[in-house]
Amino acid sequence: MKKEQSVSAIKEGTVIDHIPSNAALKVVDILDLRGIRSIISVATNLTSRTMGKKGIIKIGGKNLTKEEVDKIALIAPDATVNIIKNYDVKEKIKVAIPTTINKIIKCSNPNCITNNEKSMATKFYVIRKRPLKVRCHYCERNMDKEDISLL
Ligand code: CTP
Ligand code: ZN
Repeated sequence: MKKEQSVSAIKEGTVIDHIPSNAALKVVDILDLRGIRSIISVATNLTSRTMGKKGIIKIGGKNLTKEEVDKIALIAPDATVNIIKNYDVKEKIKVAIPTTINKIIKCSNPNCITNNEKSMATKFYVIRKRPLKVRCHYCERNMDKEDISLL
């Protein structure tokens, strides 16, 4: 049986699939898709057999960097990134939370050097993946998922 396509198949580009519905628009934000001139489709609240509801993002002509894929993992840990070439899925990448996180997130300690010196990039160690818990390299503050905000 042919699966129903709620958003058209794309010829070249990237499909980010299995995004929790409530995270799909956040993924759009972190990927900074505003400057892109090709077609971008975003769908949320699609019915999924495995997730209940899911979101999906299709970006024509764009490949994601490793940093972008890692960012997606922080808010959509079960997402898959599909690289599409000539309508075929050429590669399927399961996103993974890295063991250290550089730059992407902000330290919640207002006295942390990364919040006071403009040139200091943030750096965190992942001490637990699910739910996410990280420790700041500079001030050693531990942050739980609720305290984590993206830069
Ligand atoms: N897709 C697309 N355009 C294409 C090929 C695939 O938009 N030319 C989309 C599909 O709609 C799907 C995703 O890319 O959302 C991955 O495609 P595929 O691996 O064929 O789907 P599934 O087998 O359902 O993927 P998974 O096993 O990851 O659930
Ligand atoms: Zn800190």
